[in-house]
Amino acid sequence: MDSSGPAAESATQSADDRLSALLYLSQQLNAERDLPKLVDLMAREVARLLAAERASVFLWDRATDELWSLVALGSEPLRFDARRGLAGVVVQQGITINVPDVQQDPRFYPAIDARTGFHTRNMLTVPLSNHAGEIIGAFQVLNKQQGVFTTEDEEMLKAVAAQAAIAIETAQLIGGLQQQRDALVAENTQLWQAVEGRYFQQPLLGNSPLIRQVVRLIEQLRDSSVEVLITGESGTGKELVARALHYTSRRARGPFVAVNCAALPSSLIESDLFGIERGVATGVERRIGKFESAQGGTLFLDELADLSAGAQAMLLRVLQEHVVERIGGRRGIPVDVRIIAATNKNLEEAMSQGTFRADLYYRLKVIHIVMPPLRSMREDIALLARHFLEQFARELGKRRIGLTSEAMQRLENYDWPGNVRELAHEMKRLVVLARGPAVAEAELSPEIRQAGKPTVHMSNSLPTEMSLKGAVEELEQHMLQEALVASGYNQVQAARRLGLSRQGLIKKLKRYGITTRAGRT
Ligand SMILES: Nc1ncnc2c1ncn2[C@@H]1O[C@H](COP(=O)(O)OP(=O)(O)O)[C@@H](O)[C@H]1O
Ligand SMILES: [Mg+2]
Repeated sequence: MDSSGPAAESATQSADDRLSALLYLSQQLNAERDLPKLVDLMAREVARLLAAERASVFLWDRATDELWSLVALGSEPLRFDARRGLAGVVVQQGITINVPDVQQDPRFYPAIDARTGFHTRNMLTVPLSNHAGEIIGAFQVLNKQQGVFTTEDEEMLKAVAAQAAIAIETAQLIGGLQQQRDALVAENTQLWQAVEGRYFQQPLLGNSPLIRQVVRLIEQLRDSSVEVLITGESGTGKELVARALHYTSRRARGPFVAVNCAALPSSLIESDLFGIERGVATGVERRIGKFESAQGGTLFLDELADLSAGAQAMLLRVLQEHVVERIGGRRGIPVDVRIIAATNKNLEEAMSQGTFRADLYYRLKVIHIVMPPLRSMREDIALLARHFLEQFARELGKRRIGLTSEAMQRLENYDWPGNVRELAHEMKRLVVLARGPAVAEAELSPEIRQAGKPTVHMSNSLPTEMSLKGAVEELEQHMLQEALVASGYNQVQAARRLGLSRQGLIKKLKRYGITTRAGRT
């Protein structure tokens, strides 16, 4: 046979074309890792390559013995019994079937046409087998645009199917791995949340309604990343609450970064928070800001009211756009940081004086936690005092001590301007200095010992349940205290006021455990 005729030449030409098309398709298939997109791509390309009206990829679900198509070109996803139809025969027997007229073939399964509304005339189906030789599905082209599918089309479809099977397996594998990884990441985050929550050993103590309300709110905010504003006097537990919010949230594993906005001058706070690029000023090195260090976690802005106007503007932008720009930087850096802010100042006042931006205030106070001063939860003073005595005894390796009921009464009467922090400090002092197993009233710091105590005047009738000795002691202590304060803690002067020798005064002070210097606690 003469192979140099025009017909043979065109056949060679088209074989070349098909080969390069096949190569191109195989490259594309290998680049696509998303299974639905991959199947869609294969179907589209193969229909074009073989001049077919439609192409479908069926995957064989061996568990249910069903064939299903992820995306069949121009039709809805299908799922049907793998023992039916031509595709069924192909996967069960692993053979290629080319049917020039389906209406004449009893193996044809017309129910699918009925479902898709497509009218099949002819059909070519090849098995899809993975590289272990297992059949994983079928590849099908329908309705040759002119005539019927040829043996060349069969060879072509088999070649594409070999590539497609590998790409499908890879995509399935990757999809499976991704699902597993996502599940693991979710599980891991949950576990860390639980673990950190448990190891966060400093719960907010107190049974007063005000504290219980705060505890409930923290619990409600567990799964949220919303900004929180905490206000309250110094020492009321604002930072403790901020930490509790962080360590019980999904961000628990991320960093908790605390910034004291009042600790740095305004010129430095901006670069401290937002970072700075190298060479902004001579000798300036590039530095990452606290916002970036808190990536994935919580940024605690303490003493918020002291934030400079420039930093307030920058902070507002970060809250709105979730992007920080370093000083002197030209591009924004995306940040995922939760802001918790605290202040003991009155922000509304600061706003009316123009030192705090109203838009920033309203943005931050969506959730507003107000920490009660200790004097408004006196019922919790005893609980907190015992807690701190025990904590410091443990930490300092000291004996566990208690409080006499008189001493406890003083604690409960005192106004605690420094709130829980002041109470903690006082308990630490007692753990260090205490002589007996129970702290006596006389061992308390003077300002606490005086708290709510009726001033004893000779004209006042003394409490009847008090022994003479007790009353005299009480009066003595009181007078010693007053003489010390009046003389500015000068012992010689105080002794003169009381008509005592200096030695006599020192003896009495010692007996009552009165400290002799102001503020020495
Ligand atoms: N309700 C509370 N229960 C236990 N400890 C508390 C409580 N409130 C405050 N503290 C403790 O008191 C100290 C001061 O709290 P902190 O959060 O620093 O106060 P603030 O930030 O409001 O000045 C910390 O040691 C904190 O652990
Ligand atoms: Mg604080």
